[in-house]
Amino acid sequence: MTERFPKDFLWGASISAHQTEGAYATDGKGLSVQDTRPRDNHEIADFTVAVDHYHHYKGDIALLAEMGIKIFRFSIAWTRIFPNGRGTINQQGLDHYSDVIDELLKYDIQPYITLSHFDLPQALEDEGGWTNRETVTAFKEYAETLFTAYGDRVTHWLTINEPNIMLLVDRKILGKEIPLQEKYQQFHHLMMAEKHAFDRCHALVPGGKIGPVPNISLVYPATSKPEDNQAALYFNSVRNWAYLDFACFGRYNAVFKDYLQQNQIAVTFAPEDEVLMKTALPDFVAMNFYTTVTVEQPTTTGDMKNGISDQQSEDIMERGFYKGFTNTYLKKNAFNWTIDPLGLKTTLQTLYDRYHLPIIITENGLGAEDQLTGDEKIHDDYRIDYLAQHTAQCLAAINAGVELIGYSPWSAIDLISVHEGIKKRYGFIYVDRTDDDEKAQKRYRKDSFYWYQTLIKEG
Ligand code: BG6
Repeated sequence: MTERFPKDFLWGASISAHQTEGAYATDGKGLSVQDTRPRDNHEIADFTVAVDHYHHYKGDIALLAEMGIKIFRFSIAWTRIFPNGRGTINQQGLDHYSDVIDELLKYDIQPYITLSHFDLPQALEDEGGWTNRETVTAFKEYAETLFTAYGDRVTHWLTINEPNIMLLVDRKILGKEIPLQEKYQQFHHLMMAEKHAFDRCHALVPGGKIGPVPNISLVYPATSKPEDNQAALYFNSVRNWAYLDFACFGRYNAVFKDYLQQNQIAVTFAPEDEVLMKTALPDFVAMNFYTTVTVEQPTTTGDMKNGISDQQSEDIMERGFYKGFTNTYLKKNAFNWTIDPLGLKTTLQTLYDRYHLPIIITENGLGAEDQLTGDEKIHDDYRIDYLAQHTAQCLAAINAGVELIGYSPWSAIDLISVHEGIKKRYGFIYVDRTDDDEKAQKRYRKDSFYWYQTLIKEG
């Protein structure tokens, strides 16, 4: 039993490109699906300026170094490297991330780079996006370019952010609904793209390590009714294990296969897939966690919706399989997400028990409407409370034998939420802008910044 985290524990902080960088058409960048996506709410900030991390990265990294992080998880915008998804490299884009990497290394912060975070190049989307097999080839070439360009300095890589949530919450994340057959052909292509990344990373990066980065949340049955337990079994497989069984075991999860069959979904494989699925494997699992999910077996035909539609709230429903259920044992945040620190420990234990790979948490955090006070402070005690409870459960998981090697919460700095704008903030560093006023994006340290600094220092 230890009361402190191991000395070499990887304390970090995370962001993605499109939610922070802005400069959406600067220095040769092409448009991604995040730049073009239809929006149902025009009151919230888009990603054109975001928090202008593209121009502020040096100051941001200096602040993060002051906070004491050992690793920084960020994503590369595919469209800065290949404005059209493939073809001619945009040297300015390649140089930009090279400078970011050097800046991090200057402070002894290890980069953990996500290859793609929800921002497929629009040019590839125009050719069918992830439904088109050619996107797998384009991704492979893009990944090879990054491994070759940065592999001398970057050893740790993450593949494609939350393919599970991107497909399940398509409307909120991509601005459109993907028909079921297409969705699971995309699943296969995303997973094969990931396999190519595992393979090419190991081939091109000396000592390179790479892992998948899904959002993993244990699914609870609403009651001990056997039907509710079936509902949880199916949603656990469709939401969680389908992705990790593919990545870590190279196979389709059996319950997920039944779900596909019952929906008459047939996935097309390329001839080389079977072998690569089995041989290209990850070194660790990166996992994003915000809360757990609870489901019941849907019984009525009319009763479809529950709560607000979101990637973490109860509004999930697939007739014949599962329906979201409000877990009354849990409190909720202001954005309707439940809070379940013990659920994090259980999720970690379940995941480790299944795959026996080192785990790093690459997202965990609290979205809230922070207030900048007159004396330029941000008293986010609610965030400290959330993070303290979740890190306590990380320690409990380590004590229970889980090989948890790091914790990199969401988010390093305030950023634009996937579909709720900047009013929903996650950062340790406050960025002064609102949804309708970009202002100068001045940075301020929140109370949670100092709290995390002490946690990192004292373990
Ligand atoms: C994860 C995503 O699903 O959740 C992030 O990887 C996202 O990109 C985070 O920001 C929080 O979700 P939201 O909707 O509050 O931005």
